Formats: sequence, C-alpha cells, structure tokens
Amino acid sequence: MGKPYQRIDQVMDEENVVQNLEKTHSTAPKFIEPTPRKAEWQEEWNYFCQSIRSVEPRFDYSKADLKILCSMLSWVWRFKPYNLLGFDFEKGLFFYGSMGRGKTLLLRALKEYLLKLKSRWREAIDDDYRLGTAWYSASQIANDYAAEGQPELEQYYNRKTCLFIDELGREPNPASNFGTKMNVLQFILQMRYDNRRTSVTHVTTNLTLDMMAEIYGDYVADRCLEMFNFVEFAGPSLRQ
Ligand SMILES: Nc1ncnc2c1ncn2[C@@H]1O[C@H](COP(=O)(O)OP(=O)(O)OP(=O)(O)O)[C@@H](O)[C@H]1O
Ligand SMILES: [Mg+2]
Repeated sequence: MGKPYQRIDQVMDEENVVQNLEKTHSTAPKFIEPTPRKAEWQEEWNYFCQSIRSVEPRFDYSKADLKILCSMLSWVWRFKPYNLLGFDFEKGLFFYGSMGRGKTLLLRALKEYLLKLKSRWREAIDDDYRLGTAWYSASQIANDYAAEGQPELEQYYNRKTCLFIDELGREPNPASNFGTKMNVLQFILQMRYDNRRTSVTHVTTNLTLDMMAEIYGDYVADRCLEMFNFVEFAGPSLRQ
C-alpha cells in the first residue's frame, strides 16, 4: 500500500498550485485516450482540489479517502496510473453509504471540475457525453413527473448525457401525476441503462444494492451492476 500513497502525496502538493502554474497546454487534450504527462496531471489535480474547495471551503483531506479523489479524477481522464479503486471508465459513479460522509460534496466537486474543464477546452469535450454536468435530485425528477407527466422525463434519459442524480431513494415514490402513479426513478434508471452506451449516470444515495432491489426491482438492481462503479462511504457524519 505504501507506494500508491507516496504517489498521492506527490500530487497532493497544493502549495505550488495555481499561481505558479503555467498553462502548458497548447492544444486541447484528447479525452478519448489521454495519457497526461505528470505536469498535466498535477495541474488537473490542482483544479480538482480547487473545485472541492469551491464546494466546501473547509474541506479536510484527512477526513476524506484520497483513493476516491484520485480515482475520480482518473475517471475523467481515463488515466490508469492513479485509478486506485480500479474504476471502469465507461460506468458512472455510485456513491452510497452513511449520511453526511461527503458523497454529495464530492460529486458536486466533480461537476464543478467538469464545468471548468468545459470552459478551458470547450471544443475537445463538447461532444463527450461522459463529461456533462446535468444535476438533479431524485426528488426534483419525481416532482417533475408529478407536475408535468411522463413526456417531461425524456429530458433525463433520451439524449447523450451525463446525469448526476443526488439523493436517490429520498424521492416521493410512487409519484402521482393527476392520479397516474409511477415509480419514476425506477423508470429513469431502466432507461439510462438502455442508453448506457451513449450516456453515463452518477448517483448519491443512502441505499444499498439490496435496498435498491426492494424499491426499484431486482432487474434494476441487476442493471446497476453494469452501469456503476460502487463506492461505499462509511463512518460518522461530518456535518457540524
Ligand atoms: N472531508 C471533509 N472535510 C470537511 N467537510 C466535509 C468533508 N466531507 C464532507 N464534508 C461536509 O460534511 C457535510 C456532509 O457532506 P455531504 O452532504 O456531502 O454528505 P452526504 O454523504 O451526501 O450525506 P447524505 O447521505 O446525508 O446526503 C457537508 O457540509 C460537507 O461539506
Ligand atoms: Mg448527500
């Protein structure tokens, strides 16, 4: 285990961040098969740290799992050397576990990072569905159905998109649209699965896969295995 941590320490050096960094990129990076040089990785790592701090200024690295942070950034870049959790780059991230452990914070930070990435290299990533930033809570999606009906749900699945779903399992279920009841997130997950080759989904939830099977059905839970990299967040709440 010593080795990976050493390497993390090297990239964790936040001191020599932003102000000293030169923009070394003359051309946009290739996101299809990028092999960032060390300097590029350092620069991206620093941007990622900034994104985390923009979401939580008091972010404490000692309370976070650095392997998750490194693997998240690796996921964006499809960069194997720092993919310490062995994420499958074609699958989304499924952050589950105890309350108040930073699941939402980290996915929000990823979203912020991707937004910045987009402003830096718009042309390179505009057509990369993995790098989108659409963010909704599961309740928002269910309430959208309740207010507008099923056609409204198309925006959440029927495109080449990256979709962040926060707080899966806390939505009203079933949602009711003028008396027509629907397990909305079951439907969304199933459709996202069908479109999995051209879309990616990230989730935060307190549900385990067993609970997912209970709420959304065995077939959805089974499809989740093919859609997601599962990361458990355990321990006492970090809320103060
Ligand atoms: N490593 C950390 N250092 C400092 N604060 C943190 C850290 N991780 C999380 N927090 C803070 O703890 C609080 C809870 O984090 P967050 O909302 O991301 O938890 P969660 O896992 O999504 O919880 P829930 O399951 O209840 O939705 C937030 O205020 C967040 O900013
Ligand atoms: Mg949360």
